Amino acid sequence: MGAVDWDVRNFHGYITHKGTTYNAYVVRADKVALVDTVKAPFHETMLRHVKEVVDPEDIDYIISNHAEPDHSGSLARMAAEAPQAKVIASERGAPVLKKYYGLDVATIKDHPQVDLGGKTLNFAPVPMAHWPDSMVSYIPEDKLLLSNDAFGQHLASTGRFDDEVDPAVLWHEATAYYANILMPLNRSVGRAMKALGGLSIDMIAPSHGVIWRRDIKGILDHYVRWVEGVTVPRVVIAYDTMWKSTQEMAYAIAEGAASRGVEVRVFNLTENHRSDVITEVLEAKAVLVGSPTLNNHVFPTVADFLAYMRGLKPQNKIGAAFGSYGWAGGAKRIVEEEMRQAGVELIENDLEFSYKPTEEEWRRAYDFGASMAEKAMA
Ligand code: FEO
Repeated sequence: MGAVDWDVRNFHGYITHKGTTYNAYVVRADKVALVDTVKAPFHETMLRHVKEVVDPEDIDYIISNHAEPDHSGSLARMAAEAPQAKVIASERGAPVLKKYYGLDVATIKDHPQVDLGGKTLNFAPVPMAHWPDSMVSYIPEDKLLLSNDAFGQHLASTGRFDDEVDPAVLWHEATAYYANILMPLNRSVGRAMKALGGLSIDMIAPSHGVIWRRDIKGILDHYVRWVEGVTVPRVVIAYDTMWKSTQEMAYAIAEGAASRGVEVRVFNLTENHRSDVITEVLEAKAVLVGSPTLNNHVFPTVADFLAYMRGLKPQNKIGAAFGSYGWAGGAKRIVEEEMRQAGVELIENDLEFSYKPTEEEWRRAYDFGASMAEKAMA
């Protein structure tokens, strides 16, 4: 019942190349429930969709699985359209809805389950998957999990199910979504997975992207891998450059790493968005970050990437910093400190060269790339 947002490209710092959807669901039995709403500008769209299947005045319950405005932005207006409906949120969601919209809502403390007469909605809090208030709804009669943010993808499409979209695009977007939104919340997502572990599930309907009905095992298995921080022998090199010296070093490291047969991906941080690089970092074993020294500091795009990575706390990574300078260095040390703060295990090196790498310095970068690749394969 929600809306497709074909045009959104910025989701709090994460570039959504393929747009997204804000999914809402009507559950019809003897009674009627609406689960979640949409981002405020899409209220009219959702209302039109709802009216195609039910008179809003006949809605008995509105369930707010999550108070973030992409799912609650039209809640107050929807509640006004459905005056009979009791609005139910998690205990931690109720005060957020009050703060955002002035709404007084019931909570799952008093309504842990809603009997619609033929279908039942069971609620389970999943704090920090994505916000403290997050919860999921489960309908045992349909073996249907309404998972809200978990298992989502920022993917606008006319297909509504996982078997109706290009699988390569679907998996890329599911991976990007985890990397950019859920990666720092691994432990909470793991707890949520454990809590949901006993459920029999035929379908997972998230609040973004398509519904999983064909490859439920696939998405659950991927979440287990991501929660555990499983890595592959991949080397990601993110860098920026002023006069191509740091770029030359990045390419030398890449050649050296590739010589050992590992997958290598190189990203210039002016040409690539931070969130695309982080998507590749999610499963990579090794991350290298290169920066020229600019005004005794790191290059601005590198600082941006480091701040983003530090917040997302990638797991189980080895890494290294490198860079070039003119008359005085310093960027490498700053990059190393930020990477340490991000939880990356640093491999010491002396890859900070003045002006332009010499042949000998190029060889040192190449050899270091080879040694990082060997560590990534270990
Ligand atoms: Fe899709 Fe946390 O909101």
